[in-house]
Amino acid sequence: MKKIIAVLMVALIAKPVLAQLPVYLDETKPIESRVQDALSRMTTEEKVAMCHAQSKFTSPGCPRLGIPELHMSDGPHGVRAEINWDNWGYAGWTNDSCTAFPSLTALASTWNTDLAAQYGQALAEECLYRNKNVILGPGVNIARTPLNGRNFEYMGEDPFLAATLCVPYIQAVQKNGVATCVKHYVLNDQELWRGHINVELSDRALHEIYLYPFKAAIEKGKAWSIMGAYNKIRGQHACHNDLTINKILKGDWKFDGCVITDWGGCHDTYEAAMNGLDIEMGSYTNGLTSESKFTYDDYYLAKPFLKMIKEGKVPMTVLNDKASRILRLIFRTAMNKNRGFGSMASAEHYNVARKVADEAIVLLKNENNILPLKFDDYKKILVVGENGRRTLVQAGGSSELKPKHETSPLEGISKLAPGRVKYAEGYRSGASMFGRVEVISDAVYESLRAEAVEAAKDADLVIYVGGLNKNHEQDCEAGDRTTFGLPFCQDKLIESILQVNKNFVMVLCSGNPVMMPWLKDVPAIIQTWYGGSAAGDAIADVLSGKVNPSGKLPMTYGVKLEDYGAHSFGSICYPGDSINVEYKEDVLVGYRWFDTKKIKPQFPFGFGLSYTTFEYGKPTVSTKTMSAGGNIIVRVPVKNVGSVEGKETVQLYIGDVKCSVTRPLKELKGFEKISLAPGEEKVVSFTITDDMLKFYSDRKHDWVFESGAFKAYIGSSSRDIKCTIPFTLK
Ligand code: GLC
Repeated sequence: MKKIIAVLMVALIAKPVLAQLPVYLDETKPIESRVQDALSRMTTEEKVAMCHAQSKFTSPGCPRLGIPELHMSDGPHGVRAEINWDNWGYAGWTNDSCTAFPSLTALASTWNTDLAAQYGQALAEECLYRNKNVILGPGVNIARTPLNGRNFEYMGEDPFLAATLCVPYIQAVQKNGVATCVKHYVLNDQELWRGHINVELSDRALHEIYLYPFKAAIEKGKAWSIMGAYNKIRGQHACHNDLTINKILKGDWKFDGCVITDWGGCHDTYEAAMNGLDIEMGSYTNGLTSESKFTYDDYYLAKPFLKMIKEGKVPMTVLNDKASRILRLIFRTAMNKNRGFGSMASAEHYNVARKVADEAIVLLKNENNILPLKFDDYKKILVVGENGRRTLVQAGGSSELKPKHETSPLEGISKLAPGRVKYAEGYRSGASMFGRVEVISDAVYESLRAEAVEAAKDADLVIYVGGLNKNHEQDCEAGDRTTFGLPFCQDKLIESILQVNKNFVMVLCSGNPVMMPWLKDVPAIIQTWYGGSAAGDAIADVLSGKVNPSGKLPMTYGVKLEDYGAHSFGSICYPGDSINVEYKEDVLVGYRWFDTKKIKPQFPFGFGLSYTTFEYGKPTVSTKTMSAGGNIIVRVPVKNVGSVEGKETVQLYIGDVKCSVTRPLKELKGFEKISLAPGEEKVVSFTITDDMLKFYSDRKHDWVFESGAFKAYIGSSSRDIKCTIPFTLK
């Protein structure tokens, strides 16, 4: 009896306490009512406080109400080492070594949406373990020029490929209660003068090329935050731009998340208030190294903003909208009780990194099938090149990482031929930190070259590991490349070695295409991007044939710089005149330019060889005429006629034969990556719908199609077209 009374007493006492649980803390209530409840309890000062940084990488919650702060971290390829509370230095923690996943250009090269999801899942687990609520990525700016210092952080030159691969990454991260912050919105397509350069371009280029991946990230990926870019767009800073934020992002796309500045991207209180900026970070710094005397209370969206609210210059509805979005972001992340605890630098994550790095590698050339290498046949292997030993997960700017594990190319290769691998540095890049590079003397270059050539004479196989290396102006934030060719006297080194040893395989580690004057003399090349922690293992996997390469180029490799659209209209088109840059190539970016202007690329977009051979059969089509709202089903059999298992990415391009506006010859509108055992055949089918036929009309300010003749191209690359199917849109 006593027990029953006791239980009743507890229930009676507990109930009122439970009943007093405020709505915003009640997990059973819908988020929107929790947001409104929290908002109704906050003061104006507390709302304003949430709209700007309180430290380098955190923004406040509402301490009085027990609403937690937001912890943000770079970057797209892994969780960056802890940075000091109030300066750009590293905190020197010993518990923040991570898994370095391959660069996003590598992920794009896999053309594998399942891997993109696995990548996002593993990254989210590391964010959870490190208590990070917002991961500052993915980056989906477009590679319009191969000189852009940050192309390695982005997903290539084609908006459809970037859109298709960023969505699963975003969905996987956010399903774990971690927010992505898709960046840099929008038109941050060069690093030179990034903080202020004003981009001028047509509405068609803006919508068909540059906004396209962001639209997918928001509408399909449901990204919870987005990072405003440093540059200006049509005269107004991207972080508080009426057209791209108010009208397009929050208007047309109905974005319900937070616009966060790039660090130092906010420049005006009233514009930031009225043009949709929600959280101001890193003001008065250069986003990488410089500090400022301004305190967080001096931020544009701090005291000056509060003053405008109090004076009625900015309506309270503006502040309430910002605060609501920030609260929603906090409820989705820091206050999301369903979040797991994550994990860090595990074998599972290393294996995800390795799988992505494996499938990212593009086999560019394989004369006489020198690859895959039978390592047991070689007694004296020489690995040449600084990239053979260099860690390529450090440097590059804010995306740099401190990996727990890392396998260099030399280590990966040495595991395949213990005791039979020698190393020669060959070239040296010198130390480099955001803007300052150690100069290497010609004498040093000469001695390194001579030493490598001598060693090559004595080897029965040379594996050259070179490329770029995320030094300043060599694939690094805050600077663009100044030449299209390889740096550090590599061309001369390569040619010198080839003169003494033709048994030569090149491993190209870079985030961008490079000029290849030695191409005809190099028997085999693999493009490996920046492969992260498992880079060396992945290179060994492919060189040895353990993995059959299946990467496809996400960007065109031109013979020379002038072959690119962005480099065909003088300096105003790239890099601009330091005030403005005009995208005169318009919608003809990347292969869209090479195809339409009939320029032969060195290696085309979508290109990648295999150790096996795929045969495409005759396509079948459901119909040759299509009406609006209808569709055409195209089926094409693909057979592996070689002797090893392989993966092939079948690509669908669509071309509008005749149109009232200039359109690219063809554009990627679909792809499917299939795995085939030797002798196996699969039928790949594509459904062509009318939205694949549309272009953005700058008269109607909307996507439209025009009836008439179209062509569907099915290819193994943008230039290796296996079949062309003409059809008509009624
Ligand atoms: C940097 C970069 C951005 C990064 C941010 C925080 O300047 O532009 O990508 O996420 O600032 O490091």
